[in-house]
Amino acid sequence: MLEKINSLLAEVEEFSAKSKEHVEEYRIKWLSKKGQITALFDDFKTVAPEIKREVGQKLNELKIKAQDKINAIKESFESQNDLHVSTQFDLTTPSDPSITLGSRHPLSIVKNQIIDVFARIGFTVSDGREIEDDWHNFTALNTPENHPARDMQDTFYVNINPEMVLRTQTSSVQVHVMESQQPPIRTISPGRVYRNEAISARAHCQFHQIEGLYIDEHVSFADLKQTLNFFAKELFGTETKIRMRPSYFPFTEPSAEVDISCTLCKGDGCNVCKHTGWVEILGCGMVDPQVLDNCGIDSKKYTGFAFGMGIERITMLKYRVKDLRLFFENDVRFLNQFSGE
Ligand code: DAH
Repeated sequence: MLEKINSLLAEVEEFSAKSKEHVEEYRIKWLSKKGQITALFDDFKTVAPEIKREVGQKLNELKIKAQDKINAIKESFESQNDLHVSTQFDLTTPSDPSITLGSRHPLSIVKNQIIDVFARIGFTVSDGREIEDDWHNFTALNTPENHPARDMQDTFYVNINPEMVLRTQTSSVQVHVMESQQPPIRTISPGRVYRNEAISARAHCQFHQIEGLYIDEHVSFADLKQTLNFFAKELFGTETKIRMRPSYFPFTEPSAEVDISCTLCKGDGCNVCKHTGWVEILGCGMVDPQVLDNCGIDSKKYTGFAFGMGIERITMLKYRVKDLRLFFENDVRFLNQFSGE
């Protein structure tokens, strides 16, 4: 019996397999119910007691070695298989030139550039909802019931009672943010808005805005001015100047409109700036204390500023697009001209 064990041990040690099937064949030959090693265990009962210990040890050694060898070879076949799968695809191959790749929409490119500028000075991004209730779109923002902005001509009503609208401005996100967070708040909210307007080269029933909101103790108009100055220079170039004109919005007091020096003529006067040297890019102001109180923020302790801009308008200025409708027609001849993140 010892001889048989030794010759099997030598066979196991020498064994190498050409294929998975080959390993399986030997597993059956050695270790299955009818295998040679299993048979030796049956014969072990008949071994003389004086050599039982020695034979037993050898037999166990044989079994363990055979199992280890089979497992090791099987594993090496499996990992080769994995390797084979992963090398079937060469991920560095250039793509098929006959497939034209898409590019990012110009509005997305500019939106991301704007987010990037504000992210650098600590603004987070907050998402809102496009179907909004009366409170968030109007009432909390100091827009009384008879305000012209609520006119049926401007607002798309989704439901009359309770009043639900397609939001007309991303200022509604301000309200959600203030209701759910306490200062310091520093956030911008990009999104789509809707207004019931006739579609033309300069107006559309859907467009995009970015809202900004900064609330903390001692936030001043100077902070607003400096933030927007930084923004304009980062987005349009360091030579860009801003100017503020007094304006009115129901939710800010004081309010202002911000112009930048014309990016085309650099202030000399051209068609784009209607020969004034300036183009309007956004509305802004100090958040009205009543709005802070409406949203659960202590207006005696905190002040803040807000601003809102149209992404289409900024994109038109940056890329000299003359017709707003181009953004929504998805003509690839137009879209192909833009590249960027
Ligand atoms: N929501 C205004 C609009 O749609 C834009 C705006 C103006 C937003 C002033 C503001 C702001 O946050 O302070 O015309």
